[in-house]
Amino acid sequence: MKIHDWVKKSVGYEIYPRSFYDSNQDGMGDIQGIISKLDYLEYLGVNLLWIGPFYPSPLDDNGYDVSEFCDVDPSLGTLEDIKELIQLAHQKSIRIIFDYVMNQTSDEHPWFIESKSSTNNPKREYYLWAKGKGKNPPNNWGSFFGGSAWNYSQETDEYYMKIFSNKMPDLNWSSKNVQNEMAAVAKFWLDLGVDGFRMDAIAHLGRDMSFKDSTLKEENGIAYDWSKFSNREVLYTYLNNLHNQVFSKYSCVTIGEVGGGAKLDSALRYVNQEKPAIDMVFNFDSVWCLNDDGSTNVVELKKTINYWITGSRKAGIYLPQYWTNHDHPRAMSQYGNLEYFKESGKLLALVLLGLYGLPFIYNGEEIGMTNVDYTQLSDFKDVSSQNYFKMNQNKQSEQEMMEHIRKSGRDHGHLPMQWSDEKYAGFSNKSPYLKVNGNYKEINVQQQLNDSDSILNFYKQMIELRLKSQYSKTLIDGDFKLVLARHKQIFGYIREDDTFIITVLANMSNSKANYRLTDKEILLQNYEAHQKGVLQPYEALLMVEVK
Ligand code: GLC
Repeated sequence: MKIHDWVKKSVGYEIYPRSFYDSNQDGMGDIQGIISKLDYLEYLGVNLLWIGPFYPSPLDDNGYDVSEFCDVDPSLGTLEDIKELIQLAHQKSIRIIFDYVMNQTSDEHPWFIESKSSTNNPKREYYLWAKGKGKNPPNNWGSFFGGSAWNYSQETDEYYMKIFSNKMPDLNWSSKNVQNEMAAVAKFWLDLGVDGFRMDAIAHLGRDMSFKDSTLKEENGIAYDWSKFSNREVLYTYLNNLHNQVFSKYSCVTIGEVGGGAKLDSALRYVNQEKPAIDMVFNFDSVWCLNDDGSTNVVELKKTINYWITGSRKAGIYLPQYWTNHDHPRAMSQYGNLEYFKESGKLLALVLLGLYGLPFIYNGEEIGMTNVDYTQLSDFKDVSSQNYFKMNQNKQSEQEMMEHIRKSGRDHGHLPMQWSDEKYAGFSNKSPYLKVNGNYKEINVQQQLNDSDSILNFYKQMIELRLKSQYSKTLIDGDFKLVLARHKQIFGYIREDDTFIITVLANMSNSKANYRLTDKEILLQNYEAHQKGVLQPYEALLMVEVK
């Protein structure tokens, strides 16, 4: 599907609203908080904001459990604030996309309250209901947050499907009424001026409606068989209808989260020329390329990124690129190295912003924020962490559970943004709803704004190079080719068009790396000097040759 021109000329920045900046000092980030940081975002140079969910929500899953789609949670602000945000961002030529939560609502959404009240309520068909098997759920399907994909509702003695938490009943997209209601939601925000959506968990809108048991191996009676509700044929029709009914009428961008498991062929089906559904797909493949000892598996990372880029170029489509997002560890902890803090933070900027595809920076990545330093289970608030503790408390020690969550938990991404070395990291005057990371005294925006050699200022430089320099065209549209593809330490690639050959070389390891390539003129680097043929730990270069 043809995307609008402006999309390619964008650098995205994901904001997790509750953790970005607290303007009214209640311990939680809010919309006015984002507004007050627009100057900062303009300074950084990003021009497309993805704002995470701010809709009314009982907060079982960080706002992805929505209880009203066309409003703002009072703890975050008002619709007027949202309008102001869109308007002020647009004045700065910054576009905005919102999270469009399509798979489920909160169990406190009025639709669900009606739906659960009786089997013949008109809203019954908005959700997926089934009778249990004796005292057990209707089938053996498992959910993403652990346990059954069903939850019992005593009002009608039936179960509703929920592939995330119990408080997140899944919408029944096979209902025409649900399709129309959700189309109206998208239209509501587009008419307010938003420039598109990051479409949450869309891979799951189509289900195996026979609800037959999975034949996959069970764990405690549960089969974690995502195929029952992922990337199923019918969902492309739902999305195509939505495209025709709504998206095709606006100059907007639609980026769907299709999650793990989706390979290029299924991604291409979303971004299909004949039956358009959405513009781009997010996949998770490049988030977890680690060796057993936690170091970066550079070969795997290159292979994965290359697979998606070459495939998308061949198909004539554009994909988003990112290191990690709100569901993942922090990029610095995942692929960087605290011992080489500045070097590795800058390396991440250079490699990401030179790739083919629409780059998304996750808030805090531009200052090298790290994973949580929590030492107690009770500090971890995410629903999936809490479920993990519940399910494993009799099998694992506290230490083991903590280790698991520290590696893969989602709390890392939710950490309050570290603005300064003041109490609570300058995020708020009041104790934040989620504990700040103790390293805010050393890692914060204020300190890095004052340091021309900081990670933050390197991101700024790299964004400028991508969007506003003579190399922009090559970086945005040029061919992409890996170099040193089998090198175990170096992530290397070339971007090339009729005018320039741009080479990126980055050593993603903590030891020196030798390479055999002819060096070109260095345009950007993260060490003061470069020795030909050798990259120091986490050294990264961007070299240019005029054709
Ligand atoms: C997506 C979101 C995640 C959320 C889930 C359910 O994967 O990124 O944060 O928990 O969908 O909405």
